[in-house]
Amino acid sequence: MLKIIIFPILLCSVQFAYAKEFEIDLELGAEINEVCAGCHGEYGEGGKQGEYPRLAGLPADYIAQQLKLFKEEKRKNIPMRPYANERELPVEDIPSIAAFLSRIELTSQMPEFDKNTSAYDKLLIAKKVFNISRVEGNFALGKKAYNKECKSCHGKKGQGKKNSNMPQLTGQYIEYMLKQMKQFAKGEREHDDDADFFAEMNAEEVQAIMAYLSVMDD
Ligand code: HEC
Ligand code: HEC
Repeated sequence: MLKIIIFPILLCSVQFAYAKEFEIDLELGAEINEVCAGCHGEYGEGGKQGEYPRLAGLPADYIAQQLKLFKEEKRKNIPMRPYANERELPVEDIPSIAAFLSRIELTSQMPEFDKNTSAYDKLLIAKKVFNISRVEGNFALGKKAYNKECKSCHGKKGQGKKNSNMPQLTGQYIEYMLKQMKQFAKGEREHDDDADFFAEMNAEEVQAIMAYLSVMDD
C-alpha cells in the first residue's frame, strides 16, 4: 500500500524538476533560428549541397546533443563554433531551438493543389518541398548493407528515432553524410560505441548505402 502512494509522488517531483530544467519556448526558438537560418535556411533545409546540413525534423534530443558537443568542442567545426558558444547560445536556450527545428516538417513531394490555392500559398508550400537527388551506386548492395548494418538504429526507412539521439538519414544531404562518415572513420567525430565500424567499410559499400538512402525519400 505504502509503495502505491509513494511512487506517484516521486514521479511527480521528477517530472516537475525536468520541466523546470528544460523549459521549451518555441517563440524563443524561432528568434534564435533567425541567426541559424543564415546558413541552415529559414526552414532548416540546409544548403550549398550539404555544406550546411538539413536540421528540419531531426530529433530534438539529437539536435540538443550536437549543440552541446559543438559547445564543448568535442565535435569540432569552425563555422559552427561562434554560434554554439555560451554568449550566443546559452545552454538553457538549447531545448527551445532544438524543439523549434525538430518540429519543422518538410515534404519530399509537391502536393496536388486545388484551384483555390493562391499563388502565394503555393510559393510557401513549395519552399518546404525538399528531395534528395538520386546518387550513383549499387542499389542492391546498399539495401543489403543498410539493413544489416544501419537499420537497427537509423530505422527501416532511414527515419531515425524520434525520442532519441539517432538521426534520420533519409532527407539528409549525401555529400554531408559522406563527410561525416569520413570523420567517423578517422575518429574525428564519434559515431556510436564501435569506433572501427566505418573504418572497415569499403568505399563501394559506403556509396551503395548512400545510393539506397537517396531514393528512400522519393
Ligand atoms: C556560418 C554558418 C552556420 C551558422 C550560422 C550555423 N551553423 Fe550549424 N552547421 C554549420 C555547418 C557547416 C555544419 C556542418 C558541420 C560538419 O560538417 O560537421 C553545421 C552543423 C550543425 C548541426 C549538426 C547537424 C547534424 O545533422 O548533425 C546542428 C544541430 C547545427 N548546425 C545547429 C545550428 C544552430 C541551432 C544554429 C543557430 C544557433 C546554427 N547551426 C548556425 C554552419 C552553421
Ligand atoms: C548502434 C546504433 C547505430 C548503428 C548500427 C548505426 N548508427 Fe549511425 N548514428 C548513430 C548515432 C547514435 C548517431 C549520432 C552520433 C552522435 O552522437 O554524434 C549516428 C549518426 C550517423 C550519421 C551522422 C548524421 C548527421 O546528421 O550528422 C551518419 C551519416 C550515420 N550515422 C550513418 C550510419 C550508417 C551508414 C550506418 C550503417 C552502416 C549507421 N550509421 C549505423 C547510431 C547508429
